[in-house]
Amino acid sequence: MNHPSGATARSAPASAHLSGILDGPVDGVSAAVGRTPLVRLAHLFPASDVEIFAKLESANPGGSAKDRPALAMVRDALRSGRLRPGGTVVESSSGNLGVALARVCRAHGIRFVCVVDLRANVSTRALIRALGGEVDLVTQPDPDTGDLLTARVHRVEELLREIPGAVTLGQYSNPANPGAHHDGTMREIAETLDGRLDVMMSAVSTTGTISGCARYIREHGLPTRTVAVDSTGSVLFGGTAGVRHLPGMGAGMVTELSRHVEPDRVMRVDSVACVVGARLLAEREGILAGASTGGVVHALGTLVGELAPGTRVAFIVHDGGGAYLDTVYDDEWVARVLDTGPDQIATATAALRDRATRG
Ligand SMILES: Cc1ncc(COP(=O)(O)O)c(C=O)c1O
Repeated sequence: MNHPSGATARSAPASAHLSGILDGPVDGVSAAVGRTPLVRLAHLFPASDVEIFAKLESANPGGSAKDRPALAMVRDALRSGRLRPGGTVVESSSGNLGVALARVCRAHGIRFVCVVDLRANVSTRALIRALGGEVDLVTQPDPDTGDLLTARVHRVEELLREIPGAVTLGQYSNPANPGAHHDGTMREIAETLDGRLDVMMSAVSTTGTISGCARYIREHGLPTRTVAVDSTGSVLFGGTAGVRHLPGMGAGMVTELSRHVEPDRVMRVDSVACVVGARLLAEREGILAGASTGGVVHALGTLVGELAPGTRVAFIVHDGGGAYLDTVYDDEWVARVLDTGPDQIATATAALRDRATRG
């Protein structure tokens, strides 16, 4: 059939990329979660002959991948009767889940107390408050393990005892967390690429994203290998505990979800690598992403040299870079906290690009 303009039905209209938006209005902002863009990145490592795709979870209404598990976990708790409108949710978060839950809880008339630690971006804490959440800040690491995440989990337990009827959604063990990535994130990627994907990369913390993706891949018999990108200092997947400066990636305790997933490969990156990868992505593709995505890009720069030409790689952009302007994208912060000057960062960024393009 001919298009009125004379183009055939096979040629995509100029507005094809807006088709999701132009389908018509959706019912409330929660209905706008998911169906995020999958973007082909031709400029990141241009000489590598590897096809690279980024799943922009930063395009979710709450600005991160965590919109998906937040919605899934609250819906699941409401369905089961464990949580009722008017109740209270207490949850530990590195920030993004807090923003997502603040919105979902507000929509259901649920009080939300978010336990964060000092690593959470200041603007993220302000966002949680702006959406009606209460921020409970943990300033001291757990005395036994020296870990902030463990201290947060203990604080949640304390609040659950103090606030009558309060529940926690338990993102570190709740099956609805990986379920949201199985039903949403990975299904969307697989459907967009007709199942033709060789490598799937994701930063890890609760491991909900990589677990959900891995289950989808297994259940659908896809030829896709999973690569978990974790931070140095994280104890996930046999890592050794150490200092971590940036939120979002890694964990100071072995999460329950991580016990049930075995990524095909685990790659570790430090904070400087996150900065370098994030800056390269901004420079080459104009995508301003958060620290964990920077870590994934750095790991990908190491990996592409090993991959055969034509290999298809997708990675998750868990959040945008706006909340990291005072850290990852701030030379003064990088010099002071990571002890790495602007020249060193510039040299490392150029080296990553060159290393990846040498193949
Ligand atoms: C920015 C960012 N990247 C990566 C992750 C890791 O995702 P997951 O918890 O599903 O392993 C998180 C989780 O908090 C995050 O906030």
